[in-house]
Amino acid sequence: MRIRRLSGLVFLWLLMLLYASCTYGKSQNSETELIIAFSGEETGYLEPCGCEQTRTGGIAKRHSLFLSIQGENQTLFPVSLGDLTNHRKRQDEIKMETLLHALGDMRYTLHNLGEKDLEMGPEVLSYIFYSSPVRLLSSNVVLPDTPGIKIHPYVTGEVKVGDRTIRIGFLGILSPKLPGGTSSRVKIIPPSEAIAPIIKELRDADLLILLSHAEFEESKRLAGAFPEFQLVISGHNSDHPEVTNVGDTIVAASGNKGKNVGLFRYRISDGKGSLDMVELDDRYADSSQMQDLLDNYQQRLRDEDLLGKVDKFPYEEGSTYAGNVICGACHQEIFLHWETTPHAPAYETLIRVKHDYDPECVACHVTGLLNESGFTSLEETPGLKGVGCEGCHGPGSQHVDEAQKGLKTAAYGKLKPMDCETCHDIEHSSQFQYENYWQRIVHPKEKPKG
Ligand code: HEC
Ligand code: HEC
Ligand code: HEC
Ligand code: HEC
Repeated sequence: MRIRRLSGLVFLWLLMLLYASCTYGKSQNSETELIIAFSGEETGYLEPCGCEQTRTGGIAKRHSLFLSIQGENQTLFPVSLGDLTNHRKRQDEIKMETLLHALGDMRYTLHNLGEKDLEMGPEVLSYIFYSSPVRLLSSNVVLPDTPGIKIHPYVTGEVKVGDRTIRIGFLGILSPKLPGGTSSRVKIIPPSEAIAPIIKELRDADLLILLSHAEFEESKRLAGAFPEFQLVISGHNSDHPEVTNVGDTIVAASGNKGKNVGLFRYRISDGKGSLDMVELDDRYADSSQMQDLLDNYQQRLRDEDLLGKVDKFPYEEGSTYAGNVICGACHQEIFLHWETTPHAPAYETLIRVKHDYDPECVACHVTGLLNESGFTSLEETPGLKGVGCEGCHGPGSQHVDEAQKGLKTAAYGKLKPMDCETCHDIEHSSQFQYENYWQRIVHPKEKPKG
C-alpha cells in the first residue's frame, strides 16, 4: 500500500518534469525560424496618441519588439504594406521621411505602394525614396509620367536562417478600386493580370508572399486565386487586426495606425507557417534610437515653423479672439476658477512632452489655432495659450463690445455637449461623458460686472 502510493507520487512528479521541460523548450524557441514581420497603414502615426494613459503603437515600441526577437535561430525580415501618411501637407512629407528613415534603421527592405502614398504625388515619392534603402514595391502600379521613380514589380530576398538559405519572393498590389488609382498619372493593372506572370518567373522561390493593399475580402479572393502564396498581407481601412485561412494560405491584416505588428513564423524544418499578432502596448519600452528620430522630427517642425504656417479660417460670426484676461475683467470669479482647471495649462502639457511646436497637437491644446486672430505662437499670442474661455465659447470681441456699451448681449457662447467633443473625441478622450466631465470644471455662480 505504502509503496504503491509512493510510486504514484513519483509518476506524478515525472509527469510534471516532462511538462516543465516541454514548456521550457517552447519558451526558448529552439525552432529555427524565418520571421516576416509586417506593419502597414501607419497613416501618420509615428507615435501613439499622447493623450491617454494607455499608449499603444508607434515606431519606438515596434523597434523594441524587433530587437527582442532577434535570436540565434531566428532571422527577422520586416516588410511594410503601404500608406505611411494620411494627408499631403508639408508635415506629412516630413513624417514620411522620418518613417522611411525609421524603416531603414529597422532593416525593412521594401514598402508596398498604398493609395495614400500615391496621393503624396509621384515627385515627392520619388524624392523621398531616392536615397532610402527601402525599395518601393508594386506589381500593378505604373507611373508612366514619372521616369525618375523606381517601382519594383517584385522583390526577391535570400535569407540565411541557421545553415539554410531561404529564397523569398514578394509581390505587391494596390486595389484598382482605391482613389489613388483614379489619377490620370497613375496606371493600375488588374491585380490577377499582374500577378500571374511574376509567379511563373519566381517558381523556384521557397516562399511567396503577396502584400495586398486592398480590402480584406479582395485579398481573400486573391489568396483563393493564387494558392502559390503562403502568406497574403492585407490592409486598407482595417481598424483592427484580422487573420484567416484560405486553403493553405494565411491572410492577415495588422490593422491601422501602427498599433499592431504581424509576425509570420516560417519554420525551416518543414516549411510551415504560423501567425502571431502582437499589440505594441506597455510591455515594449521606447527604443532610444527611434526616440532620437522622433525628437529630430519635432525639431524639424520647429525649424520650418509649421505652427506659423497652418491654414487659418475666418470665424463664421465675424468676431475675433479677445483673450482670457479681457473676459476676466468682467467675469472675475469664472476666470479665477478657470485658472485652476486642467484647461488653463494645456499648452504647458505640450511643453512638458516636447510637442509644443507640433500643429497636430497644438490645435486642441490652445485657443483658436485654426482660426484667424487665434493662437499663433507663445510669443505673439500668450493670452491664447491653453484652452481658454473662447476655446469653448468661440471668439468674443462682439460680446465684449456689446457688454462694454451696456447692451444686453445676444446669446453669445451657448454650448452643447457636442462642442466639447471637437477636442474630447474618442481617440483623445475615450472616457469622455459630458455630465461627468462638466461637473469636474463647472463654473462658479457669479454676477458679471456690466
Ligand atoms: C465688459 C464686461 C464683459 C466682458 C469684457 C465680457 N463679458 Fe461676458 N458677459 C457680461 C455680462 C454683463 C453678461 C450678462 C449678459 C446678460 O445677462 O445679458 C455676460 C454674459 C456672458 C455669457 C453668457 C451668455 C450671454 O450672452 O448671456 C458668456 C458665455 C460670456 N459672457 C462669456 C464671456 C467671454 C468668453 C468673454 C471674453 C471674450 C466675456 N464674456 C467678456 C460682461 C462681459
Ligand atoms: C479646444 C479643445 C477643448 C475643448 C473644446 C474642451 N476641452 Fe476639455 N480638455 C482639453 C485638453 C487639451 C485637456 C487636457 C489638458 C491637460 O491636461 O493638459 C482637457 C481636459 C479636460 C478635463 C480634465 C480631464 C482630466 O482627466 O484631468 C475636463 C474635465 C474637461 N477637459 C472637460 C471639458 C468639457 C466639459 C468641455 C466642454 C464643455 C471641454 N472640456 C471642452 C481640450 C478641450
Ligand atoms: C483632438 C484634440 C487633441 C489633439 C489633436 C491632441 N490632444 Fe492631447 N488631449 C486632448 C484632450 C481632450 C485631453 C484630455 C483627455 C482626458 O483626460 O479625457 C488631452 C490630454 C493630453 C495629455 C495628458 C495630460 C495629463 O497629464 O493628463 C497629454 C500629455 C497630451 N494630451 C499630449 C498631446 C500630444 C503630444 C498631442 C499630439 C501628438 C496631442 N495631445 C494632441 C485633446 C487633444
Ligand atoms: C471647457 C469649456 C469652457 C471654458 C474653457 C469656459 N467655459 Fe464658460 N461655460 C461653459 C459651459 C459648458 C457653460 C454652461 C453651458 C451653457 O449655458 O452654455 C458655460 C457658461 C458660461 C457663462 C454663463 C453663466 C453660467 O455660469 O452659466 C459665462 C458667463 C461663462 N461661461 C464665461 C466663461 C469665461 C469668462 C471663461 C474663461 C475664464 C469660460 N467661460 C471658460 C464652458 C466653458
